[in-house]
Amino acid sequence: MTVVRACASTEELAGALAAIGHYFGLESSLEDAERFAQWLEVERMHAAWDGDRIVGGAGAFSFQVSVPGGGSVQAGGVTVVGVLPTHRRQGVLTSLMKAQLADCRARGDAVACLWASEATIYGRFGYGLASRIGELTLARERARFAFPFEPQGTVRLVELDEAARTFPLLYEQLLAERPGMFARSMAWWETRTLFDDPARRRGAGPLNRALLSLGGEPAGYALYRVKQDWAEGSSNGEVSIVEVVTPTPAATRELWRWLLDFDWTARFAANLLPLDHPLFLLLAEPRRMRFRLNDGLWVRIIDLQAALAARSYTGEGHVVLEVEDAFLPENNGRWHVSAKGVERTTAGADLHLDVTGVGSVYLGGFGFTDLVRAARAEELRPGAAERADALFGRWAAPWCPEIF
Ligand SMILES: CC(C)(COP(=O)(O)OP(=O)(O)OC[C@H]1O[C@@H](n2cnc3c(N)ncnc32)[C@H](O)[C@@H]1OP(=O)(O)O)[C@@H](O)C(=O)NCCC(=O)NCCS
Repeated sequence: MTVVRACASTEELAGALAAIGHYFGLESSLEDAERFAQWLEVERMHAAWDGDRIVGGAGAFSFQVSVPGGGSVQAGGVTVVGVLPTHRRQGVLTSLMKAQLADCRARGDAVACLWASEATIYGRFGYGLASRIGELTLARERARFAFPFEPQGTVRLVELDEAARTFPLLYEQLLAERPGMFARSMAWWETRTLFDDPARRRGAGPLNRALLSLGGEPAGYALYRVKQDWAEGSSNGEVSIVEVVTPTPAATRELWRWLLDFDWTARFAANLLPLDHPLFLLLAEPRRMRFRLNDGLWVRIIDLQAALAARSYTGEGHVVLEVEDAFLPENNGRWHVSAKGVERTTAGADLHLDVTGVGSVYLGGFGFTDLVRAARAEELRPGAAERADALFGRWAAPWCPEIF
């Protein structure tokens, strides 16, 4: 019989991290746990104990996540979930998830979000697919823009301290417009985003930090690595673009042009791109990106009323959602949603759906009409899904630029 409880020390955190570490082929160390404790509060890591041995773990960062309309919500960023192979398929993850969801609720998180190692794991716990991401591979000779333009900006490669001063401001500017991004603490910037972890190089060179200025002001940044290679004397290298943040259209066009003009490489590779990436309209041959889609962020509504009240709506419409939630019964029932607020109601419902469906539409990555078409929601009144979509509005596609 396993027992789940929150960790009480860095030693316990190290034990709980060892479960997921096992699948990464890592040895667990107290040093790693101390590093991890910079971002994860020890008591937000749950451990599953079999006697005096930890056999599983699940953690949650304390995040603020941007939502449609420019606001943000308190969220649990679920991470480092693992159960040792000796204890798999005995319900250990289920116990960890139950404890974690209850803890998120007790802490006042409106939602929880995660990146799934496998898409089959988290739906049963109420997580809905909330965003899609894309990966591109673009040959250098196919990287022309559809319309010529004269670059106005300057790009400099900057040292760590300048990056640490300027990049977070640009990121925050974008976060105010893009749903699905989480606010990064300074410790996160210094020890994760800007930290050039040799383990992440995978044969490529160091992490480069490029800062774009427009009119003398910081306007965007790019993080990238170069992996050089040769074939018959010519470069068969790859520029691996790790993160590009450009809060304005002018900066997007400038910085991507600068990146895609990189000399002495055969191709560019980038991952975790938003579904509505401007390159589709910037490039002369968007098909040459070979844009591959994948599931991105998964969202679990923890406190339905608080979560829905935190995002914006468009128009004067209203909708009554009848929601089912097997794990958090507080969310069960009928909810009247409009731009004026979200409250419980006894009025007849327009749409019936599971809490996973609310997670899918929450950041705007999917609409109610998408849910209905996939039999993930049922229209109880004709036209209800379209009315709900009009109310929930159209926003930039949700984008979480980093796997956490
Ligand atoms: C995924 C993992 C945590 C599951 O833990 P577990 O303790 O075996 O899960 P449970 O026994 O609680 O399983 C609950 C249900 O989920 C299903 N399930 C669990 N893992 C699954 C997987 N990887 N794929 C599909 N279904 C899975 C089980 O079959 C079970 O279904 P049931 O309720 O219909 O019987 C564990 O296999 C693991 O550590 N995997 C490797 C690391 C990993 O992928 N971690 C997730 C990081 S995001």
